[in-house]
Amino acid sequence: MSTLLEQARDAAKQAYAPYSHFPVGAAVETDCGVFTGCNIENASYGLTICAERVALWKAISEGATRIERLALSCIQAPEGAPAESRMPCGACRQVMAEFLAPEAQIEIDGVGVITLAELLPQPFQLGTPSCLGKTQP
Ligand code: THU
Repeated sequence: MSTLLEQARDAAKQAYAPYSHFPVGAAVETDCGVFTGCNIENASYGLTICAERVALWKAISEGATRIERLALSCIQAPEGAPAESRMPCGACRQVMAEFLAPEAQIEIDGVGVITLAELLPQPFQLGTPSCLGKTQP
């Protein structure tokens, strides 16, 4: 049985990254099992989607109602590269804050384990609690 981080590394092999040549993989553990994602780029660069969001949206769209933790791997970050080049982007941190608890563990390949609250201490919130797992009004 492979670890969540190993599954994130595996997912990175599916990355479509012909522009950046920077494959990324993510895996989330949920109440519906593990979902993985990779970054998928586009010639219109702004349409590129990060690995974390692919994994999260796969999970949500398949019915997951609890996202327990997330693992992330930038498999081609150079050996000895600074942690910054392996960290989740700001947009993905905000999306994580929508679906994971502040104390949820985020495992970052080559960096370590950090809580979501440490990654994004003050996420934007509209004031309504998460509707995850509940019928939308
Ligand atoms: N990327 C991710 O997949 N996740 C992140 O959190 C940071 C960046 C991707 C987007 C793009 O395809 C490539 O890495 C270089 O920015």
